[in-house]
Amino acid sequence: MPKIQRAIVVGASRGLGRALAETLADRGSQVVATVRSNRPTDPRPGAGGIEPFALDLDHAADHDRLAAAFPAGHFDLLFVNAGVSGPDHQRAEQASVEEVGALFTTNAVSPIALARRALPLVRPGGVVAFMSSRMGSVGLNDDGALELYRASKAALNSLSRSFAVKEALPAGRGVLVLHPGWVQTDMGGTDAPLTALESVSGLCDVIAAALDHPAHAFRDYRGIELDW
Ligand SMILES: NC(=O)c1ccc[n+]([C@@H]2O[C@H](COP(=O)([O-])OP(=O)(O)OC[C@H]3O[C@@H](n4cnc5c(N)ncnc54)[C@H](OP(=O)(O)O)[C@@H]3O)[C@@H](O)[C@H]2O)c1
Repeated sequence: MPKIQRAIVVGASRGLGRALAETLADRGSQVVATVRSNRPTDPRPGAGGIEPFALDLDHAADHDRLAAAFPAGHFDLLFVNAGVSGPDHQRAEQASVEEVGALFTTNAVSPIALARRALPLVRPGGVVAFMSSRMGSVGLNDDGALELYRASKAALNSLSRSFAVKEALPAGRGVLVLHPGWVQTDMGGTDAPLTALESVSGLCDVIAAALDHPAHAFRDYRGIELDW
């Protein structure tokens, strides 16, 4: 299986992003791990193979800095992991303009904006991955829970298709939209059945299998294709 030699993980301060950066580094990848500040403990302190980079996903100027910081075609993988769950009420009729704006900006619009800006950093045959969720599937929504979060991930899925067909695929880069499973993190909570390590181990295998086969696909951490 082709190796992920160099990767960028966006949103690596904790949870799945941090586990992803650490797992990639443990497997021998050179990882640029973005965090919202240059805190010295983010991610793993002094870890070999991990280079921190200060970036707020919602700041376009940070996208520009990232795009200018590395040579074209330097990375096998750009993984946009950062995300938020939105307001506790999760109800359309209670949502303020500000709540909707913040949720959809961070979960859907900013990931695509960053990916467009940083696409030249990914080598031909490389992969741009977005951390979506099974909850972003319209077809698989059978209980309606967390409706605002769901809608933001459905928007991400839709935007990822536009990005894939307009830019990434014609340039020979693949686009993966990934569901990590229900995972024990600040967002997933302690009842979740999966550890972050179990989830990201699977995600790394799914990405490695997609290298050099450019396509737009929605898969879970076991590689199972999901209904849009
Ligand atoms: N956990 C699950 O069960 C689950 C299931 C499906 C999908 N997901 C998705 O997986 C991704 C990671 O979730 P998680 O469970 O690891 O959540 P988490 O523990 O809450 O971590 C969220 C991460 O996103 C970062 N982030 C949020 N907004 C950001 C911004 N504007 N700029 C830069 N970084 C930002 C956070 O950075 P700070 O530390 O600076 O806040 C943190 O590193 C999310 O996209 C989430 O929707 C999670």
